[in-house]
Amino acid sequence: MRRTVARRDGVRCEVVDGAGSGRWLLNFCGNDYLGLASHFQVSGALQDAAALHGAGSGGSHLVSGHHALHDALEREIADWLQVPAALLFGSGFTANLAVLQGLLGDGDACVQDRLNHASLIDAARLAGCRLRRYPHADAQGALRQLRTLPEGAAILATDGVFSMDGDVAPLRELAIVARVQQALLYVDDAHGVGVLGPDGRGSVADARLGIDAVPLQLVTLGKALGGCGAVLAGDADLIGHLAETARPYIYTTALPPAVAGAALAAVRIARQEHWRRERLAALVQRFRLRARQRGLELMPSDTPIQPLRCGDNVTALAMSRALDAAGFWVAAIRPPTVPEGQARLRVTLSAAHADHDVDALVDALAAARDVHAPGAHALHTDTAAAVPTP
Ligand SMILES: Cc1ncc(COP(=O)(O)O)c(C=O)c1O
Repeated sequence: MRRTVARRDGVRCEVVDGAGSGRWLLNFCGNDYLGLASHFQVSGALQDAAALHGAGSGGSHLVSGHHALHDALEREIADWLQVPAALLFGSGFTANLAVLQGLLGDGDACVQDRLNHASLIDAARLAGCRLRRYPHADAQGALRQLRTLPEGAAILATDGVFSMDGDVAPLRELAIVARVQQALLYVDDAHGVGVLGPDGRGSVADARLGIDAVPLQLVTLGKALGGCGAVLAGDADLIGHLAETARPYIYTTALPPAVAGAALAAVRIARQEHWRRERLAALVQRFRLRARQRGLELMPSDTPIQPLRCGDNVTALAMSRALDAAGFWVAAIRPPTVPEGQARLRVTLSAAHADHDVDALVDALAAARDVHAPGAHALHTDTAAAVPTP
């Protein structure tokens, strides 16, 4: 069920359900990891560009909609990620459609992690190529799949950071597999760019991989960068080919220039303000330490995506409702978004959260667990778990 946000103030949202007046909730399920969505310079850039260039682009990129701000954003992201070329899309979903549709045909194949984002799975289906999936984060599994295919006819596609689990793909191993099997490694780094790696360059840079290993990667603008849209970054020939041939790029209206102006401001802040990543990393550690102390069942993740396993849908929903009643917005994620029997609360952290926000959330999670899943105390053997709880 979707919910309506009437007003937003950083990580606080006024949510209006039904006819009644709104309730303010502390948002722990957004993707605004760096707190840039309501940054005054980002919204200021949006307003200034809208005043100058209007509300819309007025056309598709290859006809009359391509604007100097689109160009500037592509150049800024290429410079940030240290790659030769970049291409702006209206969303990450369409960018993934474009990559597989633009680069693969009938006889080709796409080998994917079982937990890849839905847009990658759908992209392979729509491209009409063979889709092969390997067990989550299993580079050997990827190798086994690729070995059954003709060399050079496949894309090996993985999320950089898995959106529902928060763990990071084994990119160095996958890069070796791709090289051995002459597959093109494509990394959807929707949740990694801005957050991980040197200068926030994402999971590919964090794994110390360059364009020779990962010729193409996806940056989304709607998560750590606080806006909307996506950029493919990488090899100039591949990017040029997609710009000329990929139907999801060609046959759609270009993003409003103002949105690109806002993203440009956000990228510049993300590049410069390292304290945002440091703050986020500190909050992740704080959350994990306190959650462990309370016996909450965490999944193995060091990123701002910190899911808590609930198992069945009923428990996940009941806990989400209990949190809501306590003033916290944490979405229950259920199948088919996650595998059967693995419903969870997907907690996400933002540099805009305060320490006491995180502490209060952990208290509320423990209280909800005690009521709705009293048997679900995780056993931890680390020292953190030995700290007595109040
Ligand atoms: C891993 C991943 N890839 C792609 C997308 C799609 O990006 P967008 O929201 O820009 O369409 C998402 C968004 O949910 C995502 O989590």
